Order: sequence, then C-alpha cells, then structure tokens
Amino acid sequence: MNLNNLQTLDDFRLFAKKKLPKMVFGYIDGGAGDGLALKRNIQSFKKLLLQPKTLLNVKNRSFSKRINDQTFDYPFGIAPMGLCNVSNPNADTMLAQAAKKLNIPFCVSTASSTSIEDIYKIASNNVWFQLYMGSSVESTMKLVERVEKVGIKNLVISVDVPAPGYRPRELRDGFTAPFTFGIKQILDCAFHPSWSLPYLFYGKPKFANNEGLSNKGKNFFERNSGTRLIPDLDFLKKLRNNWSGNLYVKGITSLEDAYHSINCGCTGIYISNHGGRQLESVPSTLDLLKMIRRKIGKKYPILFDSGVRTGEDIIKAYSLGADFVFLGRPFLFASALGQKQYIIHLIKLLGKQIDSALAQVGQTSIENLNKSVLFEKDINFYKDI
Ligand SMILES: Cc1cc2nc3c(=O)[nH]c(=O)nc-3n(C[C@H](O)[C@H](O)[C@H](O)COP(=O)(O)O)c2cc1C
Repeated sequence: MNLNNLQTLDDFRLFAKKKLPKMVFGYIDGGAGDGLALKRNIQSFKKLLLQPKTLLNVKNRSFSKRINDQTFDYPFGIAPMGLCNVSNPNADTMLAQAAKKLNIPFCVSTASSTSIEDIYKIASNNVWFQLYMGSSVESTMKLVERVEKVGIKNLVISVDVPAPGYRPRELRDGFTAPFTFGIKQILDCAFHPSWSLPYLFYGKPKFANNEGLSNKGKNFFERNSGTRLIPDLDFLKKLRNNWSGNLYVKGITSLEDAYHSINCGCTGIYISNHGGRQLESVPSTLDLLKMIRRKIGKKYPILFDSGVRTGEDIIKAYSLGADFVFLGRPFLFASALGQKQYIIHLIKLLGKQIDSALAQVGQTSIENLNKSVLFEKDINFYKDI
C-alpha cells in the first residue's frame, strides 16, 4: 500500500477495517456499551480550540519530551495493549522495533502475546511494563521481580479493570482470547485470508507472560475469567515498597484515586478511561485531566491517554498539564497493515502534525506548553490551571 494514502489516524483505521476479520476489528475498535465513552474522549479534543499566534520566530522547533530521567524523540508512546498479535502475528515485535528506532516508549501489557524478555531484547530501555494482578499476590510479585530482572525501569499498574468491561460488539461477534472458533468465526476468518493465513504458520496468539507463574493449576492471567485479583491500597503500598523504579497508577479518573496514589508514594498517575472500554458513562479523559491537574498542582507527573488521534490533540493534552501522552488503538491498526514501515509512518505522521501545530500556535518546544496556546474563551474557562 502506498504510504501517501495514510495521512490521518482514521486512514489507518479504515484500511485495518478492510483487512481484519470483523471480530478482531471489533475487539480493537470497540468500547463499553454503544461506545459513547470512546466518542466522548474524541469529542472533547475536537471541542477544545487552539489560538494561532504569528509574527514570532518559531524556526527551530523540537518536540522531544523528557519524563523523569529519559528523553524521548517524540512526545507520545504506545499504550499497553493485551494480545497485540491478534492484529498481526508479529505485532509486538514490529511495535518494539519501531519504538526503538524512533525512540518512543512502548508500554508492554501483562497480557502481551510476546514475553517481556523477548520484547526487551529488541527495544531495551524503550520498554515500560504494565502490570495486572494475576491469580495470587505471590505470583504477581514474582512477575514484578521478573520485570526488574529484565532491566525495566518504568512500571505502570492498571487499576481500572475490577471486572471485564461490557462490550456488546465482542459478545455478538463471539470474540474470545485466545480465539475459539464456531462457524461464524471460521467464516469471518475465511473472508479475510490475508489476515488469517499467516496464523496457520504462527498459531493462535497466547498470553506469553504466563509461563512459570501458574498457581495451583490456574493460569496467572486469563481474560474475562474472574480469576484475577483486584488491586487495593494495601497491594499498592506493597508494590511501592518492593519496586524501586518509577511507578505509575493507570486508570485514574478521580481526584480521590489520584490522592491515594500520591499518598502511597507512586511516581505519578496515568489518567485513562481505558479508551472507553470499561464504563460507558465515564467522563472524557481531557475533562478529567483539567480537573485533576488543577487540584493536585503542577509538580506531580501525569501520564495521559484515551481518544488522542492528532498532533493537535497531543498539544492540547500538554497544554492542560499532561507530562506524557500515549495512544492505543491507532498502533494496532498500523500493525494490522502488516509491516513495520506502517508503524514508523504513523509515528512520523504524528510528529509532522505536532511540528506544524507548534509553529501555528507560536511555540518552539513541547516542553513548556501551557494554557496560553488555547483559544481565549477556553483559557478563561480553564483559568485555574
Ligand atoms: C485492544 C486493546 C487492548 C488493551 N489492553 C490493555 C491492557 O492489557 N492493559 C491496559 O492497561 N490497558 C489496555 N488497553 C487500554 C490502553 O492501554 C489505552 O488506555 C487505550 O487504548 C487508550 O485509548 P485509545 O485507544 O483511544 O488511544 C487496551 C486497549 C485496546 C484497544
């Protein structure tokens, strides 16, 4: 496919839709309920306007971004996603290679389809790890030890899946992970041979980090099984005491949870509504970012995701106080296209959009963006930030 046909993140989505079986596309694209939270995330970005500023020297621009002690060449990273290899049998590998090449963070999920050890061999210090609790506290801590041994310095614990999100699309299409096949799913795959044929060689994607962690015959991690423990404050404190690297709490949507994380000594919070996949009536993350940043002050690092689809969106998130921004689905749509070059194209495309938008709003760096880049009506509205 000609890369020129891919100019927006929605282009990636539309091409991936053609390539993927309906059930796989639905798994990646879908949200809780009718998908209103996902739409709300995107709409919040569209409603917020930027103020162009001219007659300024904005010739030398940079969009590299520092977070803690690491500087990345682009101010965004790959959000943790389980079973990325449903989009393509080599998705994890391609994402890791692209992250390393262009120097962005790749946050690998506990539910990844390639082991953390193998991903770290490709992307080394660009790899972050996202932790889900598994079937016991002991096995969860064993996984944390493994992550530390591998050399990873940034740990993100996701706390926003106390139960599986209710996703009618997955239920209608019969999507399960790992895959199970009835007539409907077999036909779905048969009509998408360019997606399905490689799996005859590679086999079904699996939860690759489970190895060595099973407990009394139970797998460490299973999807929708109810076998996973739910993190609480005691576990968060235990984790903080046992993990010496950076620790972020992902899935923060309330001030109370933000304060709990701060009080436990976590490095920062990660504002996310899981891309609208858990609760349909949740506020948009951009609205949450404004509220939470205003209340907790400027110092405490905030990672951010859900609904980011353009370079301008990224500038808006930084102007409202994010310290680093992640995207999820768009990276799986790029992986679905089958080659690393599409992921690299996606990263560079966002870079171009950010660079152009920075110049339009009269800025030369992503580092010090603040509300002054917002349209005045919006500045007044957010005046306390
Ligand atoms: C297919 C898929 C799988 C996901 N799996 C995980 C996961 O294993 N752990 C996690 O913390 N978040 C997971 N997420 C949520 C993402 O980390 C992220 O919060 C979300 O995708 C951001 O929204 P966006 O897709 O609109 O960018 C998943 C998202 C998708 C789309």
